[in-house]
Amino acid sequence: MISRRRFGQLSGLAAGSLLLPGAAAAADVVLEIAPYTLEASPKHAVRTVAYNGQVPGPLLRMREGQTQTVEIRNGTSNAEVLHWHGLFLPPEIDGAMEEGTPMIAPGASVRYTMTPEPTGFRWYHTHTFAGKDLSKGQFSGLHGFLLVEGRDDPGRYDREVFLGLHDWGGHFQGGDDGFMSPVYDVSTINGKALGFGEPVRVKQGERVRMHVLNSSPTEVHWIALAGHSFEVIALDGNAIPEARTVGMLRLAPAERVSAMVTMNNPGVWVLGEVRKHVQSAGMGIVVEYAGPTGKALWTQPESLTWSYRQFAKTGEKLPVEGDVVRMELAFDAKFQGHGSEEEWRINGKSYPHTDEPILKAGQHYRLVMKNLSMDDHPMHLHRHTFEIRQVDGSAEIAGLKKDVVLVPARTTAEVEFVADHPGRTLFHCHQQDHMDRGFMMVFRYA
Ligand code: C2O
Ligand code: CU
Repeated sequence: MISRRRFGQLSGLAAGSLLLPGAAAAADVVLEIAPYTLEASPKHAVRTVAYNGQVPGPLLRMREGQTQTVEIRNGTSNAEVLHWHGLFLPPEIDGAMEEGTPMIAPGASVRYTMTPEPTGFRWYHTHTFAGKDLSKGQFSGLHGFLLVEGRDDPGRYDREVFLGLHDWGGHFQGGDDGFMSPVYDVSTINGKALGFGEPVRVKQGERVRMHVLNSSPTEVHWIALAGHSFEVIALDGNAIPEARTVGMLRLAPAERVSAMVTMNNPGVWVLGEVRKHVQSAGMGIVVEYAGPTGKALWTQPESLTWSYRQFAKTGEKLPVEGDVVRMELAFDAKFQGHGSEEEWRINGKSYPHTDEPILKAGQHYRLVMKNLSMDDHPMHLHRHTFEIRQVDGSAEIAGLKKDVVLVPARTTAEVEFVADHPGRTLFHCHQQDHMDRGFMMVFRYA
């Protein structure tokens, strides 16, 4: 994938052109990219890169439709690019070099204006190549929360909490299938291993709105809060047709879940990964009521099911809006020999050789994603929202608007979207090692 990196370096030269002349006034948002040592626990100091010297980066709140001036300064020795995940931005600033966003050269800054939409729980992260270096790209600390607030923000709540899941210190390990995949030293919520961060402090009777983001470069995570359940209200920041109460959340890389939690069980509890070994590796945070003290308790949730179908409208005659153009996309890997890196393909081709389908503005499309591989893939479409229409070959569903869909091994998932944001649009697997090995494709508009 040298070509991808090289393109980045070349386009880095153009970064200065985004600087506004005489930009003296302070930007609304300043993000400074610099090396940072994260103390996940006293035993785990992770040398990484972060925004504004914190992991996750600063929580950004923006008003929908209200133009912001953003300044990004690159204080590292590598070219950088910042992607606004889940927003409808023009390709020049969306933050993917494959779409034409210029890279920010080492030591350089860019300043531009952006108009955030749609409302909801979004995020921002680096969109660079990592390759064999499992400290770079999404393996680093370059990610943060963004909440785009609308006029009528739904759901009454007393407290709002943002939780970011991440895995650190990755190294490749060969699996049974001969493929190499990353395994990790330490896992965190909001940059801290369980027991080493500040607890989430709550009071009895409160309604807490929790926004959970999985910023892991490669791992799916399952999360529960001992003694409590989650009333899921939004997926990937978009309200679901009807709130659903569940005991456990599943988040694929880049997915977000927003849920209300009623604090009706006083005590000191663990919110963490359901899989024991991942929680022991640090993925957890203490939730503490005012009053009670003691060791944080964990209880395994009773039900370990999660399906997109639970949150969608099912079983009714679902409306068809105009004609929908079907696009079949088959995912597989080309095995390159034991212990070496496979190449990921869409319809038999790896990026930068993947097709560039041409979209017609205003047209509805259905992506029929056939995962022929033995891995699950979190597929993400930039600059658009799609609706999940079918998963696991069961009956059609509706009402589930997302920007990431996990397509399990050997299954097909179908999503629909309206081509309503002209410009180059990247579509890829959000797993860093997969995108680095060709699992990307660009849509163009006619
Ligand atoms: Cu959050 Cu191209 O990704
Ligand atoms: Cu993948």
